[in-house]
Amino acid sequence: MSDVEVLETDVLVVGSGIAGLTFALKAAEGAEVLLLTKKGRVETNTNYAQGGVAAAVAPDDSPALHRRDTLLAGAGLCHARAVEELVREGPDRVRELADWGVRFSRERGSFALGREAGHSRRRILHAADLTGHEIERALLAAVADHPRIRVLEDHFVWELRTGLDPGSWRSRCTGALTLDVDGGSFGAIDARAVLLATGGSGRLYRHTTNPPIATGDGLALGYEAGAAVANLEFVQFHPTAMHPAGSQAFLVSEAVRGEGAVLRTRDGRDFLKGIHPSGSLAPRDVVARAIDDELRRSGEPYVELDVSSVPAARVKERFPTIAAACAERGIEVPAQPIPVVPAAHYQCGGLLTDWDGRTSLRGLFAAGEVACTGVHGANRLASNSLLEAVVYAHRAARRTLQELHDLEIVPSSARVVPSLDDDGADPDEVENGLRDLMWEKVGIVRSDERLAAAREEVSHLAATPLRRGGDGPGAMRAREVAFMTRLASLVVRCALRRRESRGLHYTESHPQRDSERYLRDTVLAA
Ligand code: SIN
Repeated sequence: MSDVEVLETDVLVVGSGIAGLTFALKAAEGAEVLLLTKKGRVETNTNYAQGGVAAAVAPDDSPALHRRDTLLAGAGLCHARAVEELVREGPDRVRELADWGVRFSRERGSFALGREAGHSRRRILHAADLTGHEIERALLAAVADHPRIRVLEDHFVWELRTGLDPGSWRSRCTGALTLDVDGGSFGAIDARAVLLATGGSGRLYRHTTNPPIATGDGLALGYEAGAAVANLEFVQFHPTAMHPAGSQAFLVSEAVRGEGAVLRTRDGRDFLKGIHPSGSLAPRDVVARAIDDELRRSGEPYVELDVSSVPAARVKERFPTIAAACAERGIEVPAQPIPVVPAAHYQCGGLLTDWDGRTSLRGLFAAGEVACTGVHGANRLASNSLLEAVVYAHRAARRTLQELHDLEIVPSSARVVPSLDDDGADPDEVENGLRDLMWEKVGIVRSDERLAAAREEVSHLAATPLRRGGDGPGAMRAREVAFMTRLASLVVRCALRRRESRGLHYTESHPQRDSERYLRDTVLAA
């Protein structure tokens, strides 16, 4: 046991994507905010989002239509109230993003609106095909100038601290034990409230569109501290990652299909035509499964996205980044097709929250991909995630400010620096094994047998001591991989519990929907 440096703040925010930054800006209206990020502040999932933000702002659109499309995608598991808040508040929140300096693409003075699968109207606000990057730029600029927000980069949350409220038996989150990744030293932060906005867990899978930071830390941290998680079986695979996908696949936005591009086999067959009335613009789960099926059947390494129906000028104006990435790989769009495969993209479940971002652990809030607000149900509608992040970060910040006077600082009494192993398995090897097994056994098409095998293998990996390679980045790496094995076991547990197929969870062992038994969330509490 030893003492470590202690910082104190009103509100601790973990994560610097759209949810963390929005929350920080709002919470700073009434509190001191300390924002931590484990790498540089721009290394977030948000920064890579191409598609955009869905919101009912067009004259021919309405929150009611947006609600209908969201509920339909969610396959019966969306929480009606959560969706209602999303679609009702959405237009105000996107206008607020524009007020904060986000330069959305415009046409004749109004927001230019794109189309994506499952949307009955054009409602995707975007900044060409770099929407997330533009949002991140504008919000970071607003945060940088703010006198009540302090940002610490290269600071990793090792564990959340919990304690009892003075005079009460109720446990609550009281701050965090942190690792200064550059300096290699531990510290403690005592806070009145904590917001987790750490993003998702795409790195659990061999192929993913997510950057290396997406190791699911927040989910594991929240669960270990006692907060409930839900619906982790619903992992969204994006149908069109560029082949070869590698470990961080380049995404080819669904908006490209929204402009008319068509998925074909390598010999030119429009294989989605007979599968869904919307063809290549069918819901993501349908398209990803159809591609997976086609590739298993044919043995081909990829299918092709035929962009030839989209005029070259339109490609240049709307998809400059995608066109440049294709050109780098020697593919001239729209003349030549883009080779694509599915890749893990988004985690629909997360830390269970109410409509104000409160988790089941008092003082701990969550927003963005790490949270399960009930908006997505069993399948997320495209471009609803950035909207959910901004709407629910706003609501969580408002609620945090209301509750702050009840949440006193509880100084951490014993400050224990964790002991780290110098022996043990190489974290990178364990991670690679985990990603392969999740891809093979807990992927797009599941079965009882493969899930049971995954449970055994994950529990073996989770029990494997991990070697830290030094005090700073090496220690963080070992902890990240420990978080990943913990999280993988939660995903497998959720998947084994749902003995039906619904939305993103498809199992050959139970291919039908069973609403009598499973029209409910899969909730796990520590
Ligand atoms: C995309 O651009 O296809 C991704 C949008 C999303 O995942 O919502």
